Amino acid sequence: MCGIIGFTGTANAVPKMLKGLSVLEYRGYDSVGIAAQTAGGVDVVKCKGRIHVLEEKLRDEPLPESRCAIGHTRWATHGGPSDVNAHPHRAGRVVLVHNGIIENYRELAADLQKSGVTFLSQTDTEVAAALINACYDRLGDPAAAIRQATDRMRGAYAFGILFDDRPGEVWVIRRGSPLILAKGQDGFYLASDMTALLPFTKQYCAMEEGEIACLTPEHTLLMREDGSTQPAVWKTTSMTPESAQKGGYPHFMLKEIHEQPGAVRKSVSPRVADGLPDFSADGITPEFWKTVKGIQIVACGSAMHAGLVGARVLEELAGAPTTVHIASEYRYYPPLFSEGTLVVVISQSGETADTLAALRYAKSRGVPTLAIVNAVETTIAREADRRVYTYAGPEIAVATTKGYCTQVSVLWTMAAAIAYACGRMDAAQARAVVAALEQEVPQAIEAMLAKRDQFARIAKGLVDHEHVFYIGRGLDYAMSMEAALKLKEISYIHCEAYAAGELKHGTISLIEPGTPVFALATDPALVDKTESNIREVRSRGAQVTMICREGTAVPAESTDEIVYLPDGSAPAVLFAALTAVQMIAYETAARLGCDIDRPRNLAKSVTVE
Ligand code: AGP
Repeated sequence: MCGIIGFTGTANAVPKMLKGLSVLEYRGYDSVGIAAQTAGGVDVVKCKGRIHVLEEKLRDEPLPESRCAIGHTRWATHGGPSDVNAHPHRAGRVVLVHNGIIENYRELAADLQKSGVTFLSQTDTEVAAALINACYDRLGDPAAAIRQATDRMRGAYAFGILFDDRPGEVWVIRRGSPLILAKGQDGFYLASDMTALLPFTKQYCAMEEGEIACLTPEHTLLMREDGSTQPAVWKTTSMTPESAQKGGYPHFMLKEIHEQPGAVRKSVSPRVADGLPDFSADGITPEFWKTVKGIQIVACGSAMHAGLVGARVLEELAGAPTTVHIASEYRYYPPLFSEGTLVVVISQSGETADTLAALRYAKSRGVPTLAIVNAVETTIAREADRRVYTYAGPEIAVATTKGYCTQVSVLWTMAAAIAYACGRMDAAQARAVVAALEQEVPQAIEAMLAKRDQFARIAKGLVDHEHVFYIGRGLDYAMSMEAALKLKEISYIHCEAYAAGELKHGTISLIEPGTPVFALATDPALVDKTESNIREVRSRGAQVTMICREGTAVPAESTDEIVYLPDGSAPAVLFAALTAVQMIAYETAARLGCDIDRPRNLAKSVTVE
């Protein structure tokens, strides 16, 4: 996600911006910029690329010394990485930086264009700047203009704003995206998180939702939505630069697991219009969905596992025959293409060589392609005919969590969109699926995050074992594949996923007294069958942990441990199970002292075949 920083005070602001932005680099970004206030107004220098590119640009086009500035690292969502899409953005007398997504930016832009506004970039942020400027032109007061403009915005935002004619003032508002204010020896600061401000101060004030702040060299004033104003109240943080890089979490993986509720909302909501699944913002119409007669999902690793879940949902909801292919196998055993086949490639990084090769193969055969990608403007995203971005934000840990989670949420939304477009679902049914994804799923994930003690206890029982099994049926089998990969790739304990009913056809010979077996049983229609498989392994001495809905009748003698999931819709229970298996893997690896964010032998993006 984007990083924001700002300062106003008695020191030169530009070096502070560069220092703070370099600390924010961990958030992941593809372009960067600074705006500095001088006697003549606000100057902007920005570019695609890393901070060193900006520093070179500043050497060529130095900013005059300034005591008031804002800075930004951009992780592209709307509009690819480019100089023109980089922040800060200017509109009239307003220059601003933004973290978040303005969901209704298209309709706001259309209104502004009717009054003659033109846009240079493809970003939602430039639209926000133009709207604030239009209100400022009308009202003449920064606070009133910011309030009036943001009242019309839907989505999440944190803005740092300079006005040409308000020297020394930095204006701020946040809703749905974090923003921290800080007080230093030489002035006042703002940033997306405390990380960027630790080099300057430890005194901070977290802003409330909807609050506006005005920072001047002398003071910081907060304005609540009810119009009341009060000075900022400063606290002292215990964070250190190293810990703050991870937002206070010990590992990026844990931070990213905790980011999943918000990541699912950010990935599903832009595909919802009037409560119905709608991919028109991605340039995909109901008419296109109607042409889809069969789907081939192609990916690697966890992305392929997300495809296994997506395939079952696409077939069940949309009635679209769907197959899932390991990308590295795909073009050597070319599948048959028939009229109406859509090839869907899934990739968090957007650069995985095997998946890219499969995409190019499909394109060479003239088959329509669609990419589900997290990293914007990457090779796979650019080369696919269509792309649907997950808005999980940068994923730093090598073992994917929110990447996989948002891939499944987008696939589920897509299944509802196809079903609704093809008349297999009526509006009420489609709305129910979307509501479950947008509301129930994040809550279910949150509920499971509160069970960390149970996962830590389960992990304690795993660390001395060499072999662990996950078993399940249907969607639970698909989820077992991801559960097994998560555990083995970060704890180095061998873990195998098996269709619950298949174990007895050979592999059960590996079960011996004490072998840990996790039984995923979220589907009420399949619990009894899975139950009998549990008894098969338990009778051979397995230590069984069942992961099932609250209210599932589980005979006491059949399991050693039960992880209860909040009862609810199929997606909510499945995402709850996902959170459980992610946390079991995390706690096990943490207990073993493994390098959780950078497991041995692994790379975050495998760009070789
Ligand atoms: C998952 O935890 C692994 N990091 C790996 O399996 C990964 O999912 C796979 O390499 C695909 O990467 P991609 O999504 O970036 O294409």
